Amino acid sequence: MPAGIIGEYETSSAQETIALGKKLGSMLEPPLLVLLRGDLGTGKTTLTKGIVLGLGVKDEAEVSSPSFTLINEYFGRCKIYHVDLYRLETVRDLESIGLEDALRDRAVVIVEWGEKLEQLEEADLIVDIIDLGDDKRKLVVLTQESKPAQVKKRPKRGKRKNYS
Ligand SMILES: Nc1ncnc2c1ncn2[C@@H]1O[C@H](COP(=O)(O)OP(=O)(O)OP(=O)(O)O)[C@@H](O)[C@H]1O
Ligand SMILES: [Mg+2]
Repeated sequence: MPAGIIGEYETSSAQETIALGKKLGSMLEPPLLVLLRGDLGTGKTTLTKGIVLGLGVKDEAEVSSPSFTLINEYFGRCKIYHVDLYRLETVRDLESIGLEDALRDRAVVIVEWGEKLEQLEEADLIVDIIDLGDDKRKLVVLTQESKPAQVKKRPKRGKRKNYS
């Protein structure tokens, strides 16, 4: 998969975001880790519904926010794990949801609040969702190398070069 921004899209309704997710999902092959980043209520679960449909799950109603369970499992043309890290507070929590096992499985793993995931390095695909007001959303699909500066690891203290 080429590095960088794969695509930038704008949607004007939840339905359009689901349709976009469906197209994206139809192109995905496991094993794959997809991180979804974006503020509360921007549409991470909505996009997940689409991705899951694109992965062959018949009914999007199967997809619900795993806010309390932290992880849901669906079966389409491959195994799909849907993770929500919003309530994640400790690394122990992360261990308890079995994400490590999910990543080892031949599955597509979709993670809401992906910015909380320490294994950010391992993500194959990242989708940033930005609220443009009303029902408009911007969705930026990217691979790891083009992460925005704020999520890149800071250079270690002392190694920072002074270019001025
Ligand atoms: N263009 C759009 N794309 C996605 N959702 C939209 C759009 N316009 C309006 N919405 C609405 O925004 C809400 C998005 O909710 P959703 O649960 O998908 O967000 P979320 O990012 O998963 O939230 P949370 O941070 O709580 O997990 C839904 O009510 C949806 O109908
Ligand atoms: Mg959600």
